[in-house]
Amino acid sequence: KLTIKDVDLKGKKILMRVDFNVPLDDKLNITDDTRIKATLPTIQYALSEGAGKIILMSHLGRPDGKVVESMRLNPVAKRLEALLGEKVKKTDDCVGENIKKDIEASREKIILLENLRFHAEEEANDAVFARQLASLGDLFVNDAFGTAHRAHASTEGVTHSLTSVAGFLLEKEIKYLGESLENPRKPFVAILGGSKVSDKIGVIENILPKTETIIIGGAMAYTFLKVQGINTGSSKIEKEKLDLAREILAKAKGINKEIVLPIDHIIADKPSAGAKIKITQDVSIEDGWFGVDIGPKTQKLFKDILKTAQTVIWNGPLGIFEIDEFSQGTKEIAMFLSGIKAMTIVGGGDTAAAVTKFGIENKITHVSTGGGASLEYMEGKELPGIAALTNK
Ligand code: 3PG
Repeated sequence: KLTIKDVDLKGKKILMRVDFNVPLDDKLNITDDTRIKATLPTIQYALSEGAGKIILMSHLGRPDGKVVESMRLNPVAKRLEALLGEKVKKTDDCVGENIKKDIEASREKIILLENLRFHAEEEANDAVFARQLASLGDLFVNDAFGTAHRAHASTEGVTHSLTSVAGFLLEKEIKYLGESLENPRKPFVAILGGSKVSDKIGVIENILPKTETIIIGGAMAYTFLKVQGINTGSSKIEKEKLDLAREILAKAKGINKEIVLPIDHIIADKPSAGAKIKITQDVSIEDGWFGVDIGPKTQKLFKDILKTAQTVIWNGPLGIFEIDEFSQGTKEIAMFLSGIKAMTIVGGGDTAAAVTKFGIENKITHVSTGGGASLEYMEGKELPGIAALTNK
């Protein structure tokens, strides 16, 4: 695929898709600007190469095709301005003659269009809407890895009208995720967590033949324990996924791969803050109690496996890490990963948030900005936003 380095930017209007879908609090303050920061190298490069204008477009949240005041991109424009040290013009819409005029008249080189998803045509990948967006620029740069799994007008549709190249963030994401999956240094260990087996099944199936070991934590581990006849108390179980869990364990055994599950747990009398908690003696959970985190023996077991790994890919927290009392396992493993020599890749919104919460994001080889996108990439799926870019 062509990248931004392959094309001449001088004097051009660059239409750039970014993923500024950032978390906001109820006062509309941005609580994590990682995704904005991650696009700065591409924007700064375009500026330094003499781009005429840089027209940024993004979605924020899921407004479902109508204007939702709390989902305007104004706070993002302010934060971008502060991070770049450069004025940013924010428009009130993303298509139409007035927007074109605004762009022409703008004294600012950097323009941020209003939330694309205020128009239902964005998610419908409407051809007319895509052409309207494309008509704003001379060249399309996609730096929105987080949205690359969506075939929307701004990620796929526009590529039918413009030369379309990858930005540095998109390139970096593919490099790290791709390298770790296609050509990992061995031993290659995957850590999968989160609440649902169903969310990770595609990843397990794709990764199992490539890894030496898959470590499973988080609530999904209880479904795997349950099929082995272990008492899981009141823990969250996906009843309809028990057969699937059984099949996965059998498949792993059949190809001599190891799936490692927790051997003890932190349990709570309710799965919420302020609960009474205790550590189990062994792998079973007594009736009436909820598994909320991995226990100390499990932490040690997981660390022993990870210490010899050369490549580690991690998607999904190992407990309910948003609640401090249940975050210890996720934290211990995150801290451990930050100190080992292996190439470490973290993907998924929650896992990336955990790594940021513990302040170790700079000690991980690559923290993906993709939630669903990194998951689909790990499932081995082709991402439409990447597939649509112009071939070299
Ligand atoms: C994300 O946060 O995963 C991306 O911005 C995509 O958002 P979506 O799931 O609403 O399409």
